[in-house]
Amino acid sequence: MTSSNIEFVYQNRIFKINKPDSNETLLNYIRTRLKKTGTKEGCAEGGCGACTVVIAELKNNEINYKAINSCITFLPTLQGKQLILVEDLISKEGSLHPVQEAMVNYHGSQCGFCTPGFVMSLFSMFKNHSRFKDDVIKDSIAGNLCRCTGYQPIIKAAKSLKNKSKIDHFTKNEKNIINLLKKINNRSITIYNKGKKYFAPRYVQELKKILKKNIDANFLSGGTDLSLSVTKERKYISSIIYMNSINELNYIKNNQKYIEVGASTPLIELESYIKKYYPDFAKILKRYGSPQIRNVATVAGNIATASPIGDCLPLLLSLNAQVVLQDLKKTKILFLDNFFISYRKTKLKKGQFVHSIRIPLFKDNTFKAYKVSKRFDDDISSVCAAFNLEIVKNRIQNVRIAYGGMAATPKRAIYCEKILSNSLVTEEIIHKAKKALEKDFKPISDMRASGLYRMEVAKNLLEKCCAEIKKKKLIGVYF
Ligand SMILES: Cc1cc2nc3c(=O)[nH]c(=O)nc-3n(C[C@H](O)[C@H](O)[C@H](O)COP(=O)(O)OP(=O)(O)OC[C@H]3O[C@@H](n4cnc5c(N)ncnc54)[C@H](O)[C@@H]3O)c2cc1C
Ligand code: FES
Ligand code: FES
Repeated sequence: MTSSNIEFVYQNRIFKINKPDSNETLLNYIRTRLKKTGTKEGCAEGGCGACTVVIAELKNNEINYKAINSCITFLPTLQGKQLILVEDLISKEGSLHPVQEAMVNYHGSQCGFCTPGFVMSLFSMFKNHSRFKDDVIKDSIAGNLCRCTGYQPIIKAAKSLKNKSKIDHFTKNEKNIINLLKKINNRSITIYNKGKKYFAPRYVQELKKILKKNIDANFLSGGTDLSLSVTKERKYISSIIYMNSINELNYIKNNQKYIEVGASTPLIELESYIKKYYPDFAKILKRYGSPQIRNVATVAGNIATASPIGDCLPLLLSLNAQVVLQDLKKTKILFLDNFFISYRKTKLKKGQFVHSIRIPLFKDNTFKAYKVSKRFDDDISSVCAAFNLEIVKNRIQNVRIAYGGMAATPKRAIYCEKILSNSLVTEEIIHKAKKALEKDFKPISDMRASGLYRMEVAKNLLEKCCAEIKKKKLIGVYF
């Protein structure tokens, strides 16, 4: 069934919007049409968290709560979901939600402007975790900026939640919401509105049919990159195909040779899955934007964006990942090594989409990855480095090294790899390998870092990697 209306659940009933504007943000709708002004606008680019709302979706017949940035979410993507705003946390009887109570009791509400966003991030934490340890709390509010007094009262409020009953009015009402969500989550969307087109297919076959007639359409996955062209550059996108509505592409498979990640799988899911295989990959993902970003953003979007500072890209290059592309007729599998052409340009052709990404499993290798950014949380890399080493009898046998932030595209460090391959890692070899990075890269200076700084960081990360594996007694003579 295809519809030009979107339907979502809000305050225990189904809301319908006829032909919503595909470029309107959810935040705009909430504040100007729902007239709920608790949700604030700070940056309009996903960076401050003031606009955080929670979306509830059905997953295996259960409700999955996600904090998202409403400022970079296009309204039609609300189709089939429940919207929860800060105003909705108060119960019908008028009592504050445990999260709100905690914020009051611990003086967590300071300027008031960013508070609703903090409350919603903590609400999402409350619904998704049973223990509120320090790392869970810090990660949960990593996407919310406080510019005035500090985070301590907010962290104390979050810690106090461990003494509260987990059964809130949302838990009590879950059955009802599940029934409502089931009524609305089974259709595709096609909207033509004032020259703008929006499609949300549910299956790959449907996507292909749409593509046939709309070859110039923009793919929208998490929208954490694409939406900024509307909210920041003030452009409008005339034709959108929403990929994250295709459940078929939301999967992670493992055939013992590689992990395959479907194009619409949110990064937050990859983060928890990949931890077991490549802990450093998960560590980098933990510092990727914020939970609000990772709840929706995808590896496919990261790859297609081809940003030189896209965090997954050097990691995937060093792991020799493949990208599975599809068009109307064929499937093509490319090594990521051959995918990036120049600054933000890839081999993707019109009408071709990323179907999935294959990440090989190097069971006997050592994988290390590092991200250096100005701020620890919610910041883009100045330099990101990944090292995939096969170490045999204390020697580096094979190595794949890739860096982000060092060239116009994420790139392998081929000269450096040559020095390290098949070698016992001595001080002299490390010195030569660091020197080789100067041949591999000529980094530019920009607002994030100077070229000189980038080169120094790249060399130091290489040294750090060697020192760490030496410490584990994986490689031979060094220092
Ligand atoms: C606040 C904030 C913090 C961020 N932090 C980080 C960070 O720490 N590290 C980092 O690397 N990036 C970061 N980003 C950038 C962004 O989140 C990533 O590039 C993200 O991976 C994009 O994925 P997406 O699913 O949101 O893509 P979208 O925005 O939906 O799409 C991005 C591009 O890819 C294309 N595309 C999407 N899906 C497909 C597909 N299946 N096939 C073909 N083309 C497709 C789109 O048409 C578009 O051109 C941040 C962004 C924000 C707003
Ligand atoms: S307004 Fe800053 S993240 Fe949305
Ligand atoms: S509490 Fe709002 S900026 Fe600090």
